[in-house]
Amino acid sequence: MRVRPTYRRRVRPIEIAPSVLPADFSRLGEEVAALEEAGVDRIQWDVMDGRFVPNLTFGPDVIAACRPYASVLFEAHLMVEEPVLLAERYVEAGCGLLIVHAEADRHLHRTLGAIKAMGAGAGVALNPSTPVDAVRHVVDLCDLILVMTVNPGFGGQKYIATMEEKVAEVAALVEDFDCDVEVDGGIGPDTVGGAAAAGANVLVAGSALYRDPEGLKHAVADLRARAEAVRAGSSA
Ligand code: DX5
Repeated sequence: MRVRPTYRRRVRPIEIAPSVLPADFSRLGEEVAALEEAGVDRIQWDVMDGRFVPNLTFGPDVIAACRPYASVLFEAHLMVEEPVLLAERYVEAGCGLLIVHAEADRHLHRTLGAIKAMGAGAGVALNPSTPVDAVRHVVDLCDLILVMTVNPGFGGQKYIATMEEKVAEVAALVEDFDCDVEVDGGIGPDTVGGAAAAGANVLVAGSALYRDPEGLKHAVADLRARAEAVRAGSSA
């Protein structure tokens, strides 16, 4: 019988976490400042190594260069093989939370403990085909569990609505733990409600924020309002 930590259940606030994948990479510092100005709660860096996913993005030095441009939390979504080998570099670059993929680490429990020992938050991401069971025995070490709602590697993909069942399963698993439930991929005005209703409280969006004709501030506020409305409706 697992002894749950004596933790007072909290309502996890809705948070909007932009992915900077669609941003102008020639002006990343200013783009990061603009995201903070637009009212985001944290910024997600999609780190890709060209092995775990067929794409290559941000090294730690890029993130370190952008750190001074914003004060919000930087979280690194490490879509990389053997993430523990790079973890410390991303903490030193200014990331306060590291999200590793359960599929990329044979010693997940040890890796999460190592990240927390570095003084950063630790999260686990699950690809669409990966069952929730992959995190069942490390949930006490998780500050966040990310349910991928696309197959990782690229922005602008279609939301996989069948993942909402998995979001609900994760939300139930972490009910008595201080752990956020995050979704990432295809999150926009038409999909954010389903994700929030299923139990997600941290919503990662890239394309939807940058394609809003009324700008970033409107896009962030609109996503937040839609998620809050669903949550208000479900608690009514
Ligand atoms: C996939 C990436 C994307 C990105 C958000 O590896 O993680 O999900 O953050 O992409 P959009 O919001 O454009 O679908």
